[in-house]
Amino acid sequence: MTTSGLRLTSPTGELAEQFLTWRHRPDVTRWFLQQRIEDAEEYVAEWAAYDGRDHHRVVAVLDGAMVGQAALGVVDGMGQSGNGAELTGREGRLSYFVHLDHAGRGIATALARDALANAFARLGLRRVQAGCFADNVASWRVMEKLGMRREQHGVKDSFHAELGWIDGYTYALLAEEWKG
Ligand SMILES: CC(C)(COP(=O)(O)OP(=O)(O)OC[C@H]1O[C@@H](n2cnc3c(N)ncnc32)[C@H](O)[C@@H]1OP(=O)(O)O)[C@@H](O)C(=O)NCCC(=O)NCCS
Repeated sequence: MTTSGLRLTSPTGELAEQFLTWRHRPDVTRWFLQQRIEDAEEYVAEWAAYDGRDHHRVVAVLDGAMVGQAALGVVDGMGQSGNGAELTGREGRLSYFVHLDHAGRGIATALARDALANAFARLGLRRVQAGCFADNVASWRVMEKLGMRREQHGVKDSFHAELGWIDGYTYALLAEEWKG
């Protein structure tokens, strides 16, 4: 809780509908990789059915309005299987959105902190990773504030609809590095 009146809560269909009213604003999508949600009905149904068993999603509500969300998808780890290493479903992929009218108030940091805490304590993941355009300073500042490590600087490895091929960063954190 970093901003007075901010509440973090679980997704519902109604919150998904509120999210979709601003999700496709050009200032919001400018630095996001997935440009559009094509099937709104399916998306709302997914939030309505959320039980958090195999992934995590958290929503920020400020004075009654839906102002942000973070999602943590679960994927398999990379490596050689069959040697006792548990690769299946042990890694997380983090993403977040904040309504830009409320940017710079610590909302994304609060959402991402909640997602990382759930990744390690509840879902038992061993590593969480996230990527962003290098020019998306607010996004990688959030990750650095939470102790995530910049592991890759890809030179012109990320395609941006207006800017063409530009640099990208990958950040990650291991369970044993998470300080809460
Ligand atoms: C990126 C985003 C989630 C940040 O949300 P937010 O709630 O404003 O983030 P926070 O307030 O928690 O933290 C942002 C930090 O970046 C800093 N920051 C923002 N813009 C900056 C800039 N241009 N230069 C330097 N620092 C900047 C803020 O000062 C703050 O750091 P501080 O607490 O040390 O001062 C939000 O801008 C957003 O949703 N953008 C659109 C979608 C998106 O890009 N998602 C991430 C995709 S990888």
